[in-house]
This record gives sequence, structure tokens and C-alpha cells, in this order.
Amino acid sequence: MQRLAKPEIILALDVDTLEKAQVLVGKLSSKIKSFKIGSQLFTASGPDAIKMVEKMGGRVFLDLKFHDIPKTVHSSIISGSSIGITVVASRATNVLKDMQQAVIPPVFMMTVHTKGGQAMLQEAARGAEEAAKKLNITKPLIVGVTRLTSDDNKDDTLEEVLKAARLAQDSGLDGVVCSALEAAKVREACGADFVIVTPGIRSSKDRLNDQKRTADVKQAIKAGSNFLVIGRPILEADDPIAKAEELLGDLNGAGN
Ligand code: C5P
Repeated sequence: MQRLAKPEIILALDVDTLEKAQVLVGKLSSKIKSFKIGSQLFTASGPDAIKMVEKMGGRVFLDLKFHDIPKTVHSSIISGSSIGITVVASRATNVLKDMQQAVIPPVFMMTVHTKGGQAMLQEAARGAEEAAKKLNITKPLIVGVTRLTSDDNKDDTLEEVLKAARLAQDSGLDGVVCSALEAAKVREACGADFVIVTPGIRSSKDRLNDQKRTADVKQAIKAGSNFLVIGRPILEADDPIAKAEELLGDLNGAGN
């Protein structure tokens, strides 16, 4: 796999309507390029939410944490990869397709739950590869959710996250979702190209809400996170743009 670009912030669009999501993307898309669509917005608005983000120049992390029989997860990954992509059907256009560069799909990353086990994770990875080939798109990243960041930090947390990360890697996944508290050890165990996504990002000034294993932007980057998922600290701020700017300032200053 290619070396990952520098770390970035993903805004979690945890709102209940497409209209609210659109307002947020409109306000923030000049600063943030990647938006997470999870079960709340996807259940309310479906693929329209993804198409809206794409239309406004952003890309989507589709966080539906698939956990089902292998066949269903395989098919769901193909469905997610296909949103917003026009299938090229005729023979003549297939020849043309072979000559063209792969198209970047609106959904660049999706989640499955590592608790689904090896067969399910392998089918998820296979689904992404199949979709990429069939649709001539860049393969979406598939990352495995380990222990939720809303779970307490217990004695066995690190061990469990590392076990899940190794399983994800052995099954052909691109990376995992974990808290920043485990990220450095995951990086050590799984290498430089393994994708690490960290929710639970909170500064000392922020409310924790239901998150338990939290870290601030600088700590998450120091630990090796590639994608920092942030929702309520921005969504519930009096001034979401100013808050996003503050966090982006921390992100850009983190290497110094
Ligand atoms: O509002 P907050 O910053 O806590 O949002 C975190 C987002 O990341 C939520 O959308 C949540 O569903 C998601 N997430 C998480 N922990 C995981 C995986 C995803 O908090 N392990």
C-alpha cells in the first residue's frame, strides 16, 4: 500500500437531517475535506447524504460498522463503494474504461467490526477489491472497529485492541479504529502503512460526553493516528468554524 498522507481531521456529521448536514458541510468544506457519515445520518438520509458531500467537494468516511455474515458484509462493502459511481456496461465503454485512470469514489473509507471474525473481515477486504476492479475506482480503505472509545480503559483494553488490529491486518484490512491511547502500540505492531483512525478526540476544555478513552489532537498525532474523527466538540461549539480552525491549528502545529 502507498504511504499515507499527513494526518487529517474528519468531521463526524452526526445530525438527524440532510439539511443540517448540508449546512455543516457548506460552512466547513473549505477547511475540512473528509466527512464521516454514520448510522444516524445514513438511516435518515441514505446515499443522498453521500452524494451531497461529494457535490460540495468533500469525500466520505462511511462508518456503518458492518457486523453480519460474510456474504452480507461483502455485498454491503460493494454497495458502499458503488454509491455515486455510474456503472459502465457496454463492451466499447469497457475498453475505454481500461484506458482511463481509476475514478476516485465518494466513499473513500468504510468500517466493519473486528468482532465479526476472520471470514467476515476477509470478505469485506475482498468486496472492496472486487468493487475497485469492476467499477474502475480507487479501492476504498476498509478499517476494523476494535473496542469502542466510549468503553473504559480496562486492564485488558490494549491487549484486546492489539489482537483485533493483528486480526484485521492478517485478514487483509487496511487499518483499524481505536482510541489514541492504543494507537502507538498499534503502529508498532502493524507498521507504518497501517491506517489508524482515532475518535474520542477531546481537549482539556471540551466536554467528554460519552467518550471514555480520549486524547487531544496533538496526543493523537504523536501516537501515530492518520485520521482524527471529531464530532461534538465542533458540532456543539458556539462557533463551529472557530473551533474547527483551532483544532486544525493544533493539527498543523503538532509536528513542531
Ligand atoms: O462527537 P464525538 O467526537 O464523540 O464523535 C465521535 C464519532 O466517532 C461518533 O460519530 C462515533 O460514532 C464515532 N466512533 C467512536 N468510537 C469508535 C468508532 C466510531 O466514537 N470506536
